[in-house]
Amino acid sequence: MQILLTGGAGYIGSHTIIELDKAGHSVVVVDNLSNSCEESVHRVSEIIGKPIPFIKADVRDAVAMDSIFKSYKIGAVIHFAGLKAVGESVAKPLEYYENNLNATFVLVSAMRNNGVKNIIFSSSATVYGNPAVIPITESCPKGECTNPYGKTKSMLEEVLSDVQKADPEWNVVLLRYFNPIGAHQSGRIGENPNGIPNNLMPYITQVAVGRRPELGVFGNDYDTPDGTGVRDYIHVCDLAAGHVSALQAIERKCGLAIYNLGTGHGYSVLDVVKAFEKVNGVKVPYSIKPRRAGDIATCYCNPAKAKAELGWEAKFGIEEMCRDSWNWQKNNPKGYEG
Ligand code: NAD
Ligand code: UD1
Repeated sequence: MQILLTGGAGYIGSHTIIELDKAGHSVVVVDNLSNSCEESVHRVSEIIGKPIPFIKADVRDAVAMDSIFKSYKIGAVIHFAGLKAVGESVAKPLEYYENNLNATFVLVSAMRNNGVKNIIFSSSATVYGNPAVIPITESCPKGECTNPYGKTKSMLEEVLSDVQKADPEWNVVLLRYFNPIGAHQSGRIGENPNGIPNNLMPYITQVAVGRRPELGVFGNDYDTPDGTGVRDYIHVCDLAAGHVSALQAIERKCGLAIYNLGTGHGYSVLDVVKAFEKVNGVKVPYSIKPRRAGDIATCYCNPAKAKAELGWEAKFGIEEMCRDSWNWQKNNPKGYEG
């Protein structure tokens, strides 16, 4: 099947191209490069050994989107495009609502106008808010999102569910990602945040490579085994493979389906630091800082539904995640810039 990846030049999208290619699918990528660069697509093209059709366009551009659907025989869309920085979304709520919501409205209208009714949407564990139950299953109620980024994910889940309800020919798969880290084993592609990283692993790798003096650990007084926050880290290649499995659900005409994509294991901030140091033989100096606003103590999932219905489960453990994150960073100390 030919798959359109919106936001396919980004961190998760670029890794997903490789898994789709392995499974025999072809891809088309549309990205406005607001948080990525075309170099990632070039490198993926080298890895898979074939050219990748790339269109530099904004998903909010209805004319451009219509032209893509008219130019290619798209069977399904994987919709990664969106702004994702939690802190920035608090400072710039309008930009976040405008980009993430409008891009999805324009995309879904273009799909409908061109008879393409299969979509996989990048959602997030953030929709569970402070989870009612741990480990989190898909039947856990959604919670209060504390920031505009999370709210766009939660709202778009509702929008896409309503589209499917109104027209049962649609197949909508909502994938709730836990915490993607790691990189492709080649070390050629990986996470390339702009400015100071918000997320744990890119911060750790930038400390390890000498770009930052130390990691700040946001709180050691949570109700967790060592007091630091616990999360469900998932290798980005496993996450990417989850999208290929989700396509099988679409091929089986799943209607609306929701899956957690995580490993089911929770690791604390200090567990990750220790694993990273041990596997890579590098030091990660850190100091304890106050809690970060909006953080929760513990978040990990029960991934049984994805295993039972999609035959998907994560293969890589925390050590491989730490190894591959470091392999990417040490080979590309300044990311795609050098
Ligand atoms: P990313 O920023 O690397 O990739 C997103 C891509 O979308 C970027 O290349 C960006 O340039 C593009 N984009 C943004 N707005 C666009 C627009 N209007 N038109 C065209 N392109 C646009 O982020 P990622 O980590 O690869 O995340 C992919 C998706 O998964 C996002 O929707 C994100 O919110 C979601 N997600 C990410 C995480 C995570 O921790 N990385 C967790 C849960 C959910
Ligand atoms: C973040 C987002 C969330 C998104 C998720 C998946 C925030 C508040 N939340 O979640 O919306 O769905 O990513 O990508 O940004 N930590 C440190 N020091 C750091 C960075 C992080 O101690 O410099 C700690 C955090 O307090 C947390 C853990 O590391 O306990 C993981 O943090 P992070 O990587 O930012 O992910 P989440 O907070 O889980």
